[in-house]
Amino acid sequence: MGKQDAAAVLRECFRGEMNLIEVRHAIKTYSTGEESFNALDDVSLSVKKGEFVAIMGTSGSGKSTFMNMLGTLDKPNSGEYYLDGQDMLHLDSDSLAMMRCEKMGFVFQGFNLISRTSALDNVCLPMIYKGIPEKERIERGRKALEIVGLKNREDHMPNQMSGGQQQRVAIARALVNDAPLILADEPTGNLDTKTSIEVMKFFVSLNEKLGKTIVLVTHEPDIAEYTQRIVKFKDGKIVLDQPKTEWLKHRNRET
Ligand SMILES: Nc1ncnc2c1ncn2[C@@H]1O[C@H](COP(=O)(O)OP(=O)(O)OP(=O)(O)O)[C@@H](O)[C@H]1O
Ligand SMILES: [Mg+2]
Repeated sequence: MGKQDAAAVLRECFRGEMNLIEVRHAIKTYSTGEESFNALDDVSLSVKKGEFVAIMGTSGSGKSTFMNMLGTLDKPNSGEYYLDGQDMLHLDSDSLAMMRCEKMGFVFQGFNLISRTSALDNVCLPMIYKGIPEKERIERGRKALEIVGLKNREDHMPNQMSGGQQQRVAIARALVNDAPLILADEPTGNLDTKTSIEVMKFFVSLNEKLGKTIVLVTHEPDIAEYTQRIVKFKDGKIVLDQPKTEWLKHRNRET
């Protein structure tokens, strides 16, 4: 970070409105044989604490590439990424693992629960990485399952639960370390409409009641309506970034 950038970040800190996510000019290049193309093509995005953002765009537009960068599962070839003021692209692997643990929870389209492992043990897993003692792990795991309305399912294995219940276990797992940011890549992609709505209402309450910042990928406008801000990708670029209220006006005019 240059001197001027550092000064800008500090100024925002003191005003108490620092962005939780600050991505500047991110470029991610993939090469296939002779050809190479930019899956992220100069992407800049800021997200404030407490925002609920939908990432939209057609298949292949770069949504997951962007989410993987936010989750530090992948690095851009160039650009900058600050999470809660921390430069995420120049951390050693221990500090990066700690930031991941402290600052973010992940929810995936395919739930990604560990099979033959109870709901409670699945939820408790991130706390093992964090070195929390067993008694506290179980207490916090139970509390997280209670928050997602699955208090009576703690001993159930993933294959004994519905898709919506499994996704709620995954959300409880994302909540258990009390990270401020939840990253969700098509969390309703494998769910029917009714269950999708339940899960989305749940994300809304996490955002409104617990103040979680949420970045959520979806293809579906009906799902995006539950968020507050719509960011649309096309060919690796952000082509639209609007408050939901604005986006709805245009959407209604189009249809
Ligand atoms: N590891 C990789 N190697 C080469 N190309 C890749 C790799 N990962 C992604 N891509 C390409 O980068 C582009 C963006 O992929 P990405 O997964 O971000 O799309 P997406 O918007 O999430 O699509 P979908 O809605 O289908 O999930 C695509 O053209 C994809 O084929
Ligand atoms: Mg994707």
